[in-house]
Amino acid sequence: MAVDILIGLQWGDEGKGKIVDVLAPTYDIVARFQGGPNAGHTLEFEGTKHVLHQIPSGIFHPHIQNIIGNGVVLDPIVFRIEMQKLQDRGVDASQNLFISKKTSLILPSHKMLDRVSEEALGTGKIGSTLKGIGPTYQDKIGRVGLRVGDILADDFQDRYNKLVDRHRKTVEFYGQSLDLGEQEQIFFEAVEYLRTLKLVDSEYMINDALKNGKRVLAEGAQGSLLDVDFGTYPFVTSSTTLVAGACTGLGVAPRHIGEVYGIFKAYCTRVGSGPFPTELLDEVGDQIRKSGNEFGSTTGRPRRCGWVDLPTLKYSIMLNGVTQLNMMKADVLTEFDTIKVCTHYKLASGEITDRLPHSLDTETMEPIYEELLGWKVDLNQIDTVEALPEAFNNYMTFLEQHLEVPITIASVGPDRKSTLRREKVSI
Ligand code: GDP
Ligand code: IMO
Ligand code: MG
Repeated sequence: MAVDILIGLQWGDEGKGKIVDVLAPTYDIVARFQGGPNAGHTLEFEGTKHVLHQIPSGIFHPHIQNIIGNGVVLDPIVFRIEMQKLQDRGVDASQNLFISKKTSLILPSHKMLDRVSEEALGTGKIGSTLKGIGPTYQDKIGRVGLRVGDILADDFQDRYNKLVDRHRKTVEFYGQSLDLGEQEQIFFEAVEYLRTLKLVDSEYMINDALKNGKRVLAEGAQGSLLDVDFGTYPFVTSSTTLVAGACTGLGVAPRHIGEVYGIFKAYCTRVGSGPFPTELLDEVGDQIRKSGNEFGSTTGRPRRCGWVDLPTLKYSIMLNGVTQLNMMKADVLTEFDTIKVCTHYKLASGEITDRLPHSLDTETMEPIYEELLGWKVDLNQIDTVEALPEAFNNYMTFLEQHLEVPITIASVGPDRKSTLRREKVSI
């Protein structure tokens, strides 16, 4: 069988958690392949909202195996709290959760490094979630990091001390001192807890499962425009958020990839710094933020809001080989008489293009919009595609024609049930 992959096409928070939860029952395994506690994936069902950071979004289905893959950076402290929260809600994840021994560990000192390095950037700061993501991936690539499998070694404490010594010197270089206080003790308690869980060679587990006809869904974190290579660098995260990241982040060969679900909001948001060509700094942006409750699931920061941007979506679709689109949060746009869609940019040279320039940061880009009629109907009350208003169908058709990929899911509310499936037609 193949591995299907779900990835965000914008700057994250597209609704990945919700759709992974919706799709999960048709899979045997759900696996995270990159990112870490910078992610906040929200699921809503039976009147309860759950936010997951590192645990895959298939966890509420006890018969599904959930894997934290080798490409993830895992904070044992955050992880322990997440597991406890699930436990408090009656979910014992210890039986259907598996963690790769090759997963990188986030240490308390990585979080401190994240903070001092952001502070040093001053006004050029990335707007990091300060969860230690960048410094942990730096140590991985620098070949000095610690991994989950290391916690089983007798000399784990020595290896920990050695790495923290390196971090201390770096923090001092920034003119600060490394004081971790009680964080170290909490970290070691969390590591002790981690030792009791199912630590596995997940690359074997996944490839054996595929051989045995099992279905695997890989759950992306962040979004394609935050990818370390192709995102709005340097205002990106430190991992490969694209489909390619699932191959290295799980140990799956490219030929095993099946469907690629590309998920996007019917508009666009971004949290943190960096370019955002269609950003609305007026009352329209405020209205979207309010109606969409656009505040970060991880940090609570207000999200920047704007109209949907087709050149960036086309770029993400190209990089990921998207086979199906999932459009989220269309219900948020209900109040608008007309809805704008950016189809091209006008560059400083006067050139009109639907391609992204080398740097969105330094190039002046004026979005060129087409204006479509709004639907003015509360989509949240609709439960079949046949009942969708004509103006909304026109909006989807307009996007499909430009993006050349069918929209197979239209999400019209945060709940699991507010999900409309459309037939996969060829465009
Ligand atoms: P993720 O990081 O991609 O999983 O997305 P987040 O969970 O960070 O943010 C998406 C937010 O939108 C969450 O609060 C979801 O509950 C909510 N959401 C998801 N789908 C819909 C939808 O179709 N309509 C509305 N109104 N909210 C949605
Ligand atoms: P999910 O999986 C939205 C953003 C941060 C910051 C930049 C770098 O919930 O979609 P980092 O902490 O990775 O060093 O921050 O990336 N960012 C996200 N924005 N959703 C996310 O995850 C994000 N994870 C990181 O705001 O701009
Ligand atoms: Mg999120």
